[in-house]
Amino acid sequence: MNRRDLLRIGALAIPIGATGCLRPRPEARLLASAAPLPPLFEVPLPRPPIAQPVRSDAGSDYYDFAVRPAPAQILPGLTTEIWGYDGVFPGPTIEARRGRRVSLRVRNQLPVPIVTHLHGGRTAPESDGYPSDLILPAAGFAPVHMHDPLARIAMAEREYVYANDQPAATLWYHDHRMDFTAPQVWRGLAGFYLLRDPEEDRLPLPRGAREIPLMICDRSFAADGGFQYPARDPQLREAPAFLPEYMGGVLGDVILVNGAPWPRLHVANVKYRFRILNASNARRYELALDPAPRAAAPFIQIGSDGGLLSAPVAHQTIRVAPAERFDVILDFSKFAEGSSVKLVNLAASGPASQILRFDITENQRDDSAIPARLTADPVIAEKPSQMRDFDFTFVRFHPRGMMDGWSINGLPFDPARMDARPRLDSTEIWRIQSDFSHPLHLHLVHFRVLAHDGRPGPYDSGWKDTIDLGPGQGATILAKFSGYRGRYVFHCHNLEHEDMSMMANFEVI
Ligand code: C2O
Ligand code: CU
Repeated sequence: MNRRDLLRIGALAIPIGATGCLRPRPEARLLASAAPLPPLFEVPLPRPPIAQPVRSDAGSDYYDFAVRPAPAQILPGLTTEIWGYDGVFPGPTIEARRGRRVSLRVRNQLPVPIVTHLHGGRTAPESDGYPSDLILPAAGFAPVHMHDPLARIAMAEREYVYANDQPAATLWYHDHRMDFTAPQVWRGLAGFYLLRDPEEDRLPLPRGAREIPLMICDRSFAADGGFQYPARDPQLREAPAFLPEYMGGVLGDVILVNGAPWPRLHVANVKYRFRILNASNARRYELALDPAPRAAAPFIQIGSDGGLLSAPVAHQTIRVAPAERFDVILDFSKFAEGSSVKLVNLAASGPASQILRFDITENQRDDSAIPARLTADPVIAEKPSQMRDFDFTFVRFHPRGMMDGWSINGLPFDPARMDARPRLDSTEIWRIQSDFSHPLHLHLVHFRVLAHDGRPGPYDSGWKDTIDLGPGQGATILAKFSGYRGRYVFHCHNLEHEDMSMMANFEVI
């Protein structure tokens, strides 16, 4: 028996709840709202505003976001104070074009440090939003976090540069502050970043008003309408950020789509493209249509985390873990005009089983089509030069005073420790093993799934940056480490797990 087996058995042998006290639990836990739950399907689906550049030149578009608290109308008759990029939740959608740089100036008007990460972006390390590359509040703040001599601390603002040297894809940006990502995303720090390119433009896919991003996330609300989160310190100063009973993850009982609770959308009897993002901290969804269309698959997937698939894939249901994106076509011509169809979540019962209702109210001509070929098949010419193993496990250790925590290879996150040093432009195979459920995310790269509990699973098509491992599952992924040298993180994207140290470093050398 090796050290890893011992750790795994040690983790599973913890008598959860057996001591009678509040023993940390590995399962995600529901935090019920104190506010009355809003009615289903009453409010229209909002679309996040499109960000407008403050200026543009030959090669770049320049954006400027003030990150600040702002009031939002989410529940009827109540006001929710959100933290928003430009004061909105979801943040403004950045529309980017391949080959044109985006420069994003982020000004911190919150009372806490922030970090902004472009999830799925192939970004230089100084702009990637490494968790200790804090932007301190304009008002001043003494950062309380682990020592990282390499941290790039900025006062009040930072400029992030995104090269957009990658295929069209549904990316998103969100907060990544060390130890506090979970509560800060929960308060609203997330937005879409849609990268487009000529190859995708040439496809006859639904576009314009028929191409809609859907950010799905769960939240819990206090009686006064504020976001409710089991923070240990509501000021978010001292790590760990949340109560130990929630270390498995925080689940809310209100499902928001683009920031609105259980909205509805009027559609015509034609095809629509939905870019689905699960921006929840810890909740997984199994998406289905109710009723399902007769004699047709409800979902035609055309893209994954990293962009278009080479060919469309039909799904009866779609399982989507935190941070994953599914780019899908729904064809409402399969439903009668005047009828309604719901997007539901088979992974939950009760309120969290409902998401969004489509009302088919218009009769229109459909000029869109789903081509049989979407993009070229991937070519990975290089032979893998390294094989690495990573175990994602619940262990007992003492990261900053906690008894138990989430680990990669038995170790808590430490910015000073490099857990892998891939060479620039080398291809590696990583084998990952999971104890509970962990959506694993790598910065910088997109990977192919070679195996996922045996063969690749139904949701592993295309280029991925996040793979969801179920309890006891293993996976094998293939990634090419190109673009930049430097230090990046990989981590579990259950945000409570991430904040409880399920994160590690790789350095491209
Ligand atoms: Cu979506 Cu490291 O994050
Ligand atoms: Cu996890």
